[in-house]
Amino acid sequence: MILRLLPFISIFIVTACSWLPTGKGKGDHARYFNTQVKPVLQQHCLQCHNGSLPPPALNLATKATAFTRNASGREYILPRAPSRSLLITAVQRGGTHAKMMSRTELSLTDDQIGMLREWIEDGAYWPEGHRGYLQPQASAENP
Ligand code: HEC
Repeated sequence: MILRLLPFISIFIVTACSWLPTGKGKGDHARYFNTQVKPVLQQHCLQCHNGSLPPPALNLATKATAFTRNASGREYILPRAPSRSLLITAVQRGGTHAKMMSRTELSLTDDQIGMLREWIEDGAYWPEGHRGYLQPQASAENP
Protein backbone atom coordinates (compact mmCIF):
# COMPACT_ATOMS: atom_id res chain seq x y z
CA MET A 1 0.00 0.00 0.00
CA ILE A 2 2.64 2.51 1.07
CA LEU A 3 4.66 1.56 -2.02
CA ARG A 4 1.74 2.40 -4.27
CA LEU A 5 1.42 5.75 -2.56
CA LEU A 6 5.12 6.53 -2.89
CA PRO A 7 4.90 8.42 -6.22
CA PHE A 8 2.19 10.66 -4.78
CA ILE A 9 4.11 11.23 -1.59
CA SER A 10 7.24 12.21 -3.49
CA ILE A 11 5.28 14.54 -5.77
CA PHE A 12 3.81 16.16 -2.66
CA ILE A 13 7.25 16.63 -1.12
CA VAL A 14 8.71 18.14 -4.29
CA THR A 15 5.76 20.53 -4.62
CA ALA A 16 5.93 21.49 -0.95
CA CYS A 17 9.63 22.27 -1.28
CA SER A 18 9.03 24.59 -4.21
CA TRP A 19 6.76 26.68 -1.97
CA LEU A 20 9.57 27.32 0.49
CA PRO A 21 11.18 30.74 0.08
CA THR A 22 14.55 30.12 -1.56
CA GLY A 23 15.45 33.61 -2.85
CA LYS A 24 18.26 35.54 -1.20
CA GLY A 25 17.35 38.29 1.25
CA LYS A 26 18.94 41.73 1.25
CA GLY A 27 21.53 40.63 3.81
CA ASP A 28 22.66 37.80 1.52
CA HIS A 29 22.94 40.16 -1.42
CA ALA A 30 25.03 42.59 0.63
CA ARG A 31 27.28 39.77 1.86
CA TYR A 32 27.74 38.40 -1.67
CA PHE A 33 28.72 41.83 -2.97
CA ASN A 34 31.15 42.52 -0.10
CA THR A 35 32.85 39.13 0.02
CA GLN A 36 32.79 38.03 -3.64
CA VAL A 37 32.13 40.80 -6.14
CA LYS A 38 33.90 43.77 -4.57
CA PRO A 39 37.30 42.13 -3.90
CA VAL A 40 37.50 40.66 -7.43
CA LEU A 41 36.62 43.94 -9.14
CA GLN A 42 39.03 45.83 -6.88
CA GLN A 43 41.92 43.47 -7.56
CA HIS A 44 41.36 42.91 -11.28
CA CYS A 45 39.62 45.95 -12.74
CA LEU A 46 39.95 49.03 -10.54
CA GLN A 47 43.54 49.92 -11.39
CA CYS A 48 42.18 51.05 -14.78
CA HIS A 49 38.41 51.45 -14.35
CA ASN A 50 38.61 53.96 -11.50
CA GLY A 51 37.52 57.18 -13.16
CA SER A 52 40.93 58.08 -14.56
CA LEU A 53 39.88 57.09 -18.11
CA PRO A 54 37.76 59.80 -19.75
CA PRO A 55 33.98 59.07 -19.81
CA PRO A 56 32.13 57.17 -21.19
CA ALA A 57 34.87 54.67 -20.30
CA LEU A 58 33.79 52.16 -17.65
CA ASN A 59 34.23 53.53 -14.11
CA LEU A 60 33.66 50.88 -11.45
CA ALA A 61 34.29 53.17 -8.46
CA THR A 62 30.62 53.55 -7.52
CA LYS A 63 27.21 52.17 -8.38
CA ALA A 64 26.22 55.42 -10.11
CA THR A 65 29.22 55.36 -12.45
CA ALA A 66 29.15 51.59 -13.07
CA PHE A 67 25.48 51.34 -14.06
CA THR A 68 25.89 53.38 -17.23
CA ARG A 69 26.31 52.73 -20.95
CA ASN A 70 29.35 52.69 -23.21
CA ALA A 71 29.85 54.96 -26.24
CA SER A 72 27.60 52.77 -28.42
CA GLY A 73 24.79 52.77 -25.85
CA ARG A 74 25.30 49.25 -24.47
CA GLU A 75 24.88 48.68 -20.72
CA TYR A 76 27.93 47.74 -18.66
CA ILE A 77 25.74 45.97 -16.07
CA LEU A 78 22.20 44.95 -16.97
CA PRO A 79 20.63 43.34 -13.86
CA ARG A 80 19.35 39.77 -14.51
CA ALA A 81 20.93 39.70 -18.00
CA PRO A 82 24.63 38.78 -17.70
CA SER A 83 24.88 37.83 -21.37
CA ARG A 84 23.87 41.36 -22.32
CA SER A 85 26.15 43.00 -19.75
CA LEU A 86 29.47 44.30 -21.12
CA LEU A 87 31.10 43.63 -17.75
CA ILE A 88 30.73 39.92 -18.57
CA THR A 89 30.96 39.83 -22.35
CA ALA A 90 34.10 41.98 -22.36
CA VAL A 91 36.05 39.47 -20.27
CA GLN A 92 34.39 36.15 -20.96
CA ARG A 93 37.01 35.01 -23.46
CA GLY A 94 40.00 34.04 -21.32
CA GLY A 95 38.96 36.35 -18.47
CA THR A 96 40.58 39.33 -20.14
CA HIS A 97 40.01 41.91 -22.88
CA ALA A 98 42.27 43.49 -25.49
CA LYS A 99 42.94 46.66 -23.47
CA MET A 100 44.20 44.67 -20.49
CA MET A 101 46.10 41.96 -22.40
CA SER A 102 49.38 43.47 -21.27
CA ARG A 103 48.32 42.68 -17.69
CA THR A 104 47.49 38.98 -18.06
CA GLU A 105 48.09 38.41 -14.32
CA LEU A 106 44.84 40.34 -13.84
CA SER A 107 42.80 37.91 -15.95
CA LEU A 108 39.73 36.44 -14.29
CA THR A 109 39.39 32.69 -13.74
CA ASP A 110 36.30 30.85 -15.02
CA ASP A 111 35.10 30.66 -11.40
CA GLN A 112 35.37 34.42 -11.00
CA ILE A 113 33.47 35.03 -14.26
CA GLY A 114 30.81 32.54 -13.08
CA MET A 115 30.57 34.39 -9.77
CA LEU A 116 30.05 37.73 -11.56
CA ARG A 117 27.44 36.14 -13.88
CA GLU A 118 25.55 34.81 -10.86
CA TRP A 119 25.70 38.22 -9.18
CA ILE A 120 24.16 39.92 -12.25
CA GLU A 121 21.59 37.13 -12.65
CA ASP A 122 20.60 37.74 -9.03
CA GLY A 123 19.92 41.43 -9.71
CA ALA A 124 23.45 42.91 -9.42
CA TYR A 125 23.04 44.30 -5.90
CA TRP A 126 25.46 47.21 -5.32
CA PRO A 127 25.15 49.18 -2.08
CA GLU A 128 25.05 52.97 -1.82
CA GLY A 129 27.48 54.82 0.46
CA HIS A 130 31.00 53.86 1.54
CA ARG A 131 30.42 50.09 1.23
CA GLY A 132 29.67 50.58 -2.43
CA TYR A 133 32.81 52.61 -3.04
CA LEU A 134 35.54 50.60 -4.81
CA GLN A 135 39.24 51.37 -4.80
CA PRO A 136 42.18 49.77 -6.59
CA GLN A 137 43.55 47.05 -4.36
CA ALA A 138 46.85 45.24 -4.52
CA SER A 139 47.05 41.54 -3.66
CA ALA A 140 49.48 38.63 -3.88
CA GLU A 141 48.36 37.96 -7.45
CA ASN A 142 48.36 41.67 -8.30
CA PRO A 143 51.27 43.33 -6.47
C1 HEC B 1 45.20 47.45 -17.64
C2 HEC B 1 43.99 48.26 -17.63
C3 HEC B 1 42.66 47.54 -17.58
C4 HEC B 1 42.24 46.58 -16.71
C5 HEC B 1 43.01 45.94 -15.57
C6 HEC B 1 40.86 46.28 -17.06
N1 HEC B 1 40.47 47.04 -18.11
FE1 HEC B 1 38.64 47.03 -18.98
N2 HEC B 1 39.27 48.44 -20.32
C7 HEC B 1 40.48 49.10 -20.28
C8 HEC B 1 40.49 50.18 -21.24
C9 HEC B 1 41.64 51.16 -21.47
C10 HEC B 1 39.23 50.13 -21.88
C11 HEC B 1 38.70 51.09 -22.95
C12 HEC B 1 37.95 52.24 -22.29
C13 HEC B 1 36.57 51.81 -21.84
O1 HEC B 1 35.72 51.52 -22.72
O2 HEC B 1 36.31 51.73 -20.61
C14 HEC B 1 38.48 49.03 -21.28
C15 HEC B 1 37.20 48.66 -21.62
C16 HEC B 1 36.40 47.81 -20.86
C17 HEC B 1 34.98 47.59 -21.10
C18 HEC B 1 34.14 48.26 -22.16
C19 HEC B 1 34.05 47.38 -23.38
C20 HEC B 1 33.17 48.00 -24.45
O3 HEC B 1 32.92 47.28 -25.42
O4 HEC B 1 32.72 49.16 -24.33
C21 HEC B 1 34.57 46.71 -20.15
C22 HEC B 1 33.17 46.18 -19.94
C23 HEC B 1 35.70 46.36 -19.34
N3 HEC B 1 36.80 47.05 -19.80
C24 HEC B 1 35.64 45.50 -18.28
C25 HEC B 1 36.73 45.21 -17.49
C26 HEC B 1 36.65 44.32 -16.35
C27 HEC B 1 35.40 43.59 -15.87
C28 HEC B 1 37.90 44.27 -15.81
C29 HEC B 1 38.36 43.46 -14.65
C30 HEC B 1 38.21 42.03 -14.77
C31 HEC B 1 38.74 45.13 -16.62
N4 HEC B 1 38.01 45.68 -17.62
C32 HEC B 1 40.09 45.35 -16.38
C33 HEC B 1 41.54 48.80 -19.45
C34 HEC B 1 41.54 47.85 -18.46
